[in-house]
Amino acid sequence: MIYFLLGFMGAGKSSLGKYAAKRQGMEFIDLDHWIEANEGVSIAEIFSEQGEEAFRKLERSALEKVCTAEREQDLLLSCGGGTPCFYDNVEYMNQQGTTIYLKLSPGMLANRLKNAKSMRPLLEGVTDLEGFIREKLIVREPFYAKAVHIIMGKTLSRNAFARWLGELNGNPAPPEPEN
Ligand code: S3P
Repeated sequence: MIYFLLGFMGAGKSSLGKYAAKRQGMEFIDLDHWIEANEGVSIAEIFSEQGEEAFRKLERSALEKVCTAEREQDLLLSCGGGTPCFYDNVEYMNQQGTTIYLKLSPGMLANRLKNAKSMRPLLEGVTDLEGFIREKLIVREPFYAKAVHIIMGKTLSRNAFARWLGELNGNPAPPEPEN
């Protein structure tokens, strides 16, 4: 099974996903990191040198390559914030596996993103971060809403998410780690 983790930038997809996949013995891939490793350049460089449209094409092609690769383990794929919102990516993901939307309020996202803007080309030059997020979510929410599971991320701990993922995957709850 492939589990797709969707959500806006700063929702915690990579950190929650990485931890939960490890706890559940799943393979973990961060789609942005996969693209960077395959292209040999950073996402920021792709945006600045080739533009967003070229990035979206690379992102779609990466999504297909990751989904169709042979694997024995289950996979947790952490997607970029925009991945489900271009082409028919979200429908494609729903055909290939199970989509999970990690939903946070614009205020919480802004709070988490305020110190992490430099890595994210879409946030370059944005001064009203919360306003920008609200505007983007108006466009993106209908795509995110196509996810099979919607999780409110506000109070979600990584242990709670790991347990929930295990139950979804038919595994009994693993013991809590010491810390
Ligand atoms: C983007 C989110 C980024 C990355 C790119 C575009 C977006 O991923 O794919 O900068 O359109 O929201 P994260 O959500 O992991 O920051």
